Amino acid sequence: LAAFDGCPLKATATNLVFSDGNPDAGLMLVGEGPGAEEDRAGLPFVGPSGQFLDRMLASIGLDRTKYLITNLIPWRPPGNRNPTDNEVLVCLPFLLRHIALVRPRRLVLLGALATRGVTGTNTGITRMRGRWLDAAIPGLERPVPALPMLHPAYLLRTPGAKRDAWADLVLLRRTLDADVKKS
Ligand code: URA
Repeated sequence: LAAFDGCPLKATATNLVFSDGNPDAGLMLVGEGPGAEEDRAGLPFVGPSGQFLDRMLASIGLDRTKYLITNLIPWRPPGNRNPTDNEVLVCLPFLLRHIALVRPRRLVLLGALATRGVTGTNTGITRMRGRWLDAAIPGLERPVPALPMLHPAYLLRTPGAKRDAWADLVLLRRTLDADVKKS
């Protein structure tokens, strides 16, 4: 990915933002793309929405360093604009390959863009969130269970949506606990 010159965002970004955390964790969280602080640090989710994500995970007793965190787009779109369809199209194969190499047991998809990219579904995030669905990942023989959730940046702007986010976090925690019991 660092050697890839096919995405114009690379030219304006300071750093490649690839991933953070533990690739052996079994749980991989996928966000949208770096903001200003992520671009400076070269790490995903270290700015305000990252700090909020940390608090969301902490609220169900999870520590972000134990999981793998990445993004759909690995370079910051200038001025935090949304990535274009073309930028998503060009970067998506790298994310899908990343998932196939990591082979997570479960995925959490943060926000509409990550959900659309990984599931290939155009249904809005408010209708997709709140339940596990099967994400077919090229190169993996079995679909990966994926939980779409509202993006932390959206939750910071829309406090009324935190109730839905809490329901999703509880579902995530219960599912992880049930996985541990089964194994
Ligand atoms: N928002 C994202 O989706 N990803 C980041 O890494 C930071 C903010």
